[in-house]
Amino acid sequence: MAEKVLQIRNLTAGFVTEKGFVRATDHVSLELDRGQTLCVVGESGSGKSVTAMSVMRLIDYAGGFIETGEVLFSGSDLVKKKQQEMLKIRGNRITMIFQDPMSALNPVFTVGDQIAEALRIHKKLSKKEAWQTSVEMLRRVGIPAPEMRAKQYPHEMSGGMCQRVVIAMALACNPELLIADEPTTALDVTVQAQILDLLRQLKQEFGMSMLLITHDMGVAAEVADRIAVMYAGAVVEEGTVKEIFEQPRHPYTIGLLKSIPGLEGERGGELYTIKGAIPPISQLPRGCRFHPRCPHAMDVCRQQEPALIASPSGHKAACWLDESELKGTGASAASASSQTPKVTISSKTEVAL
Ligand SMILES: Nc1ncnc2c1ncn2[C@@H]1O[C@H](COP(=O)(O)OP(=O)(O)O)[C@@H](O)[C@H]1O
Ligand code: SF4
Ligand SMILES: [Mg+2]
Repeated sequence: MAEKVLQIRNLTAGFVTEKGFVRATDHVSLELDRGQTLCVVGESGSGKSVTAMSVMRLIDYAGGFIETGEVLFSGSDLVKKKQQEMLKIRGNRITMIFQDPMSALNPVFTVGDQIAEALRIHKKLSKKEAWQTSVEMLRRVGIPAPEMRAKQYPHEMSGGMCQRVVIAMALACNPELLIADEPTTALDVTVQAQILDLLRQLKQEFGMSMLLITHDMGVAAEVADRIAVMYAGAVVEEGTVKEIFEQPRHPYTIGLLKSIPGLEGERGGELYTIKGAIPPISQLPRGCRFHPRCPHAMDVCRQQEPALIASPSGHKAACWLDESELKGTGASAASASSQTPKVTISSKTEVAL
């Protein structure tokens, strides 16, 4: 069996508010095999970033805490670690990149110095070695004239260039796990594609594992091995890219697939949107958390929460509908369009949607 680099088990994390403890994640369980990419997908507010912040134990600094659960990283539980111990892991064995590269860079230091600093702290390199490695990293992330660029400040670079610097910084210490939280959301479409390509290529080169968070199913299709779909704090479906795109089992996943820009929109039709909004997690409905927005909600859905059940192949879904009923309702992704347009996944697979 593949070695697990990350096993999140029953993670419940949240924040203390005026109304008491509010869960942002509700018994989330996820697994990532070494060398693989797991994409966590869901609308804004579904608990994706809180999951990532919990793995990094940055939630402690954001006014939140982990109520229950385990985060096993290479078998050792990060939830039990002291922040002192996390300092050796964070930025070294696990690194993270965020949506806004500018917030990750210090405006008063050159980009070369910032990468070199991480190498000096974690890898104990000399000043000269750290600088040379820093220039080499800038070269590897496709920055032209890296010797000159290393001496520049973040404000002298474009957003796409800054994100490349952040990626260089995140990879400089050769992490086992890279967490990328909406790494391309702030970038324009062309640059977005370049950065995704770069991440895919570097993941191979560096042999690391990646947890990529995105609200965009199209991005997940490009980079994921497996996809976990989160809704209102919980994982509602999880499977391989092929399973999620070809045989989605949860109506929420089907809604996300139908909303991929370039399918409905490309043909001049209106882009599909899932009706309604994600509820604040403090006001979750009884039963299935998706039922107020689900076109297939039944009585049982309003009463009892469905468990996340795995098929023999390991494809998991939390929904009372079984596969035949899902087909019967016409809810499959294939029915999203009568003209069955195709979305290209990782240039390897073409899937009719
Ligand atoms: N610092 C915070 N204080 C209180 N609630 C928060 C905080 N950060 C996030 N939340 C809440 O946690 C939930 C999940 O947020 P988040 O993980 O950021 O969602 P996502 O990344 O999927 O958009 C949301 O309801 C959000 O309002
Ligand atoms: S359990 Fe019911 S309400 Fe929830 S997603 Fe499935 S069909 Fe829809
Ligand atoms: Mg987020």
